[in-house]
Amino acid sequence: MSMPPDKPIRILGIESSCDETAAAVVCGGLDVLSNVVASQIEVHQKYGGVVPELASREHLRQIVPVVREALMQAQMKFDDLDAIAVTQGPGLVGALLVGITYGKTLASALHKPLIPVNHLEGHVHAVFLEAHRENRRAKFPSVCLIVSGGHTVLYEVTTATDHTEGSAGRSSYRKIGQTRDDAAGEAYDKVAKLLALGYPGGPILDRLSQAANGAQAPPVKFGSAKVRGSALDFSFSGLKTAVLYHLREHPEYSAGIATREAALARGEKTFAELLPLCDPQTLALIHEFQRAVIRDLVDRTMAAAETISAESILVSGGVAANSELRSAFEKRAATAGVELFFPSRALSTDNAAMIAAAAYPRFRAKLFADVTMEPDPALALR
Ligand code: KG4
Ligand code: ZN
Repeated sequence: MSMPPDKPIRILGIESSCDETAAAVVCGGLDVLSNVVASQIEVHQKYGGVVPELASREHLRQIVPVVREALMQAQMKFDDLDAIAVTQGPGLVGALLVGITYGKTLASALHKPLIPVNHLEGHVHAVFLEAHRENRRAKFPSVCLIVSGGHTVLYEVTTATDHTEGSAGRSSYRKIGQTRDDAAGEAYDKVAKLLALGYPGGPILDRLSQAANGAQAPPVKFGSAKVRGSALDFSFSGLKTAVLYHLREHPEYSAGIATREAALARGEKTFAELLPLCDPQTLALIHEFQRAVIRDLVDRTMAAAETISAESILVSGGVAANSELRSAFEKRAATAGVELFFPSRALSTDNAAMIAAAAYPRFRAKLFADVTMEPDPALALR
C-alpha cells in the first residue's frame, strides 16, 4: 500500500448511489483522466422516476464495463491505481451496495486501499474540479448549494481542501439549510410528469422555459414558499401542488397534455418533438414555475452567504445545469461582490470524477475503509 512520494496519486472513483453507474480516474485530486457515466434514463423513463429495484439491476449490468472503460480511457491498468474510492451514501441502499461490493472486491484483490466517499462531498468537489480547469481558486468560508433530484441543501464549507504536496487538509462542512419536503429536481420531474413532458423533467423544462421567452404573460403567479423555522430552509412540494391545482382548474391545458402523452407513447420525447406540442400558455406556465424555483434557490443561497459572510458561492448537483439558474446566480453574486463557482454541466449531474476527487484528501489522511464497510443511505456530511 506504500507509494513513492513523487508520483501523483491516481484514484479510481465508483458511483452507484442513484440512477447513473459511473467510474472515473482522477490524478492528484484535480486532473480528470477519464469520466464514464452510464445513464439509466431509458429504464426509468416509463415510470416517471427512479425504480430502486431496477436501478440495482442496471448497476449490476453496467458496473464491470463502465470501470473497464474508465481505465481504458485513462490508459491505465488496475495496477497503476493507488486507491479505489466508492460512494458510501446517501442514496438508494440496493444501488449503493452494487458499487460498494464491487469496490471492496477490487480493492482486496488488488491490495489497494478502499476509500468511502460521501456523495454530497463529491458534488462539492465537482466544483473544485471545474475551478482547477479554469485556473480559479475559491476563497473560504464558502456557501455551497447542492441541488439535485435527491437533495436541496446548503452547507457552509469552512476550509479549502489543500491539494499541495504533503498536506492532509480536508474541507469541513456544516449544514445550514435544507428542503423540508421535495428536492428542487424532484419538483421539476413531478411538474414535467403533470404536463406530460417525459423524464427527467429538468433539462426539457429548462429549454421550454427559454422558448417561452417572456412573450406571453404568465397564466398564474407562484409565490415564495413560507418555511417556518430556519430562513435558510427550502420547500418545493407546495409549488408542485400549486401547478397541479392550476392545471385542474384550467381545462384548456388538457388537450395539449393528451397530445403529448400520445407523443411520449410513440417514443417522441425530444425538445424538438415536444416544443410544437406546447401552446404559449403552457410555455408561460413552465416559465413561471421555473422562475419560482430559481427565485427561492437564489434568494436563500444569497441569504446564507450574507449570514456567514461567505467569500464564495459554490453551486452543484443536477439542477445546477439549469441555464436560467446560472444566469440568475451570476447577476446576484456580481451585485453582492461574491465569487461564484459552478461545475461544467457534465460534472453537475452525478458522475464518478467527483467521487475520486473527494477521495483524494481522504487518501492523504489515510481515511480508509475495511471489508466491513456498508452502505449508509442517510450518510451525513461533516
Ligand atoms: O445530480 P443528479 O444527476 O442526480 C441526483 O443526485 O438526483 O440530478 C438529477 C436531477 C433531476 O431531477 C433532473 O430533472 C435535474 O437534476 N436536472 C435539471 C436540469 N438538468 C438536470 N433541472 C433543471 N434544469 C436542468 N437543466
Ligand atoms: Zn447527486
